[in-house]
Amino acid sequence: MRRPQFISEVLNLASAHSGSAPDNSIWSGFYKRTVSERQKILAQARGLDEKDVALLNKDGPLPLATAETITENVVGTFALPFSVAPNFLVNGKEYVVPMVIEEPSVVAAASNAAKLAREKGGFKTEYSGSIMTGQIQLVKLQDAGAAVAKLNADKAALMTEADTHFANLKAFGGGVVGMQARKLASPRGQMVVVEFDVNVADAMGANMVNSAMERLAPTVEKKTGGTARLRILTNLAIKRIASASAVWSKESLGGEEAVEAILDAWAFAMADPFRRATHHKGIMNGIDAVGVATGNDWRAIEAGAHSYAAMKDASIITYSKNADGDLEGKIVLPLAVGVVGGSMKANPCAVLGQKILGAKSSGELAQVMAAVGLAQNLAALKALAGEGIQAGHMRLHARHVAKTAGVSDAELERAVEFMISSRQVNEAGAKAALHKLRSK
Ligand code: HMG
Repeated sequence: MRRPQFISEVLNLASAHSGSAPDNSIWSGFYKRTVSERQKILAQARGLDEKDVALLNKDGPLPLATAETITENVVGTFALPFSVAPNFLVNGKEYVVPMVIEEPSVVAAASNAAKLAREKGGFKTEYSGSIMTGQIQLVKLQDAGAAVAKLNADKAALMTEADTHFANLKAFGGGVVGMQARKLASPRGQMVVVEFDVNVADAMGANMVNSAMERLAPTVEKKTGGTARLRILTNLAIKRIASASAVWSKESLGGEEAVEAILDAWAFAMADPFRRATHHKGIMNGIDAVGVATGNDWRAIEAGAHSYAAMKDASIITYSKNADGDLEGKIVLPLAVGVVGGSMKANPCAVLGQKILGAKSSGELAQVMAAVGLAQNLAALKALAGEGIQAGHMRLHARHVAKTAGVSDAELERAVEFMISSRQVNEAGAKAALHKLRSK
């Protein structure tokens, strides 16, 4: 490996600037370096060669200079497949849904279930409103019950003060809409939590709610004599709920027994937390992929969905059979997503994802995402309860494995056939297919 030329110069720079760091770790002050200096340090530390560094520098849709402004210690950008799922008919409107995900068959599955749902009118959705809740934790209280009573008695004044911290939201119809205080019995004794409900309109809202909680904390302390510790929103956004429902005809699912099989698969997830984890993983395959494609915080979405399911001790989806014997499905979950704010505008791919979807409000985006989650689950359960997940999923995975093993486009379909029929969807199977095809 050729040593990056400027490494010693960079290390000298590092030690010259490391006044606050007594050790001469090359990582101290890494964040203060330019992208190119960081790459050199990384190359030295991890044995990257010129090809690796060239990959980090490769121009993609997200310019390196922009990536550098979005997060810390940036050394490059990282690409994922950008797909679209057609067929989504939601409240009578056609959507082409952008999805960013590396897992094969997720996009195919969502498109498939959305197509099957069209026969009975597609998805019907609802949204409870963009209400996020910020929390202020109070400790060191003489009397937690009295503090709760005082806070609740002063609710109107507290809400008015809180509202002043959301002046920018007013133009968009947002602002503080509620407040409550409650006592908590914790492993460290009694504490109190004060919560402010805020209509954040079309933003995800985390930053604005967090800032307001920090600014409100002194008032809350003064009123109660307590000490404010955490001042942060909750991702369990139970006042920001999206739901979607759809009907799939029994014929489209493969008949009466197929409907029964899907209901059994769902009931398994309702009854068993171990199955439910995978059931929800499948749902989030689709919801997260739309979250990434539209520049939303998919960790916040995940946290909300899983905490909601844990709180209910149930699946976030319910299925039933209607009078015609068709399958009705409904998903209900918190979805804190935005169409403005955050790093969304900075990332051209997220801007494009939003443009492709065309949702005008955070509520519209959340409702389409809920429809995607329901479609994703229906497709997975239909496959799992029928021929098994591997047939569809593995066929698509086989394409990727075959290409990686050097199968050409012209050989691809025959190689995939061979890998599926010989039940070898792996590198050895791809190599065996290549051998067979080329030795002919
Ligand atoms: P099929 O019935 O053979 O599909 O299903 P088809 O050829 O009849 O096509 C129907 C529609 O599906 C197409 O409509 C497309 O929209 C779509 P058309 O274009 O013909 O008008 N479609 C595709 N879209 C993109 N690429 C493709 C493609 N093929 C069909 N290649 C399919 C085939 C794979 C869709 C089906 O078998 C399926 O839905 N399987 C489920 C796969 C799945 O759920 N994958 C998710 C990952 S697995 C996982 O991790 C989650 C899990 O653990 C969750 C859980 O346990 O609950 C399973």
